[in-house]
Amino acid sequence: MKKRIAIFASGSGSNAQKIMEHFKRNAEAEVVLILTNNPQAYVLQRADNFEIPAHIFTRYEFYETDDVIRLLKNLQVDLIVLAGFLWLVPESLLHAFPNKIINLHPALLPKYGGAGMYGDHVHNAVLAAKEDESGITIHFVSDKYDEGEIIHQSRFKIDPDDNLEVIKFKGQQLEHQHFPRVIESLLKKMKS
Ligand code: GAR
Repeated sequence: MKKRIAIFASGSGSNAQKIMEHFKRNAEAEVVLILTNNPQAYVLQRADNFEIPAHIFTRYEFYETDDVIRLLKNLQVDLIVLAGFLWLVPESLLHAFPNKIINLHPALLPKYGGAGMYGDHVHNAVLAAKEDESGITIHFVSDKYDEGEIIHQSRFKIDPDDNLEVIKFKGQQLEHQHFPRVIESLLKKMKS
């Protein structure tokens, strides 16, 4: 039986799009649900384009009820992928899906992670520190922002005149290139 993926995203969802494309005709796995906390998120349009169901949830539902867990269990989800999802995952969800939740981060963790470190905030911090490289990290999710075990990192060089837009683009290229492939190889290693 194909492995079943659920994707959480809060915004544009360009990574969700790449994952949906990758698994659209794939023998190993399929994307069965998109979840978001943001009713305006463009990822909802992308889900619709792929005819993949979507679920919008509130802060109350996510942190004070088991509704999201029940939904994921009912759909027999094997892997939860956070692709630009900005809320901390509650303990109850971590316990319901141990070692089955992964996140994408736009920097080389453990540097430039933690609360408030997302999107442009990360890239701006990297630029301010005059780093000569940055990259992406795919890691298991734990109860602290950006601290779970690292599964994959790729890096790119920062040239002296690179600005925010340039390093964002370089990072996004790596994300789109590697995230679906890393998910597929992780699923192959997972027993059930
Ligand atoms: C991605 O760059 C991802 O690394 C980042 O949000 C972006 C989502 O883009 N995630 C974080 O910053 C998490 N701390 P997308 O909506 O186009 O996929």
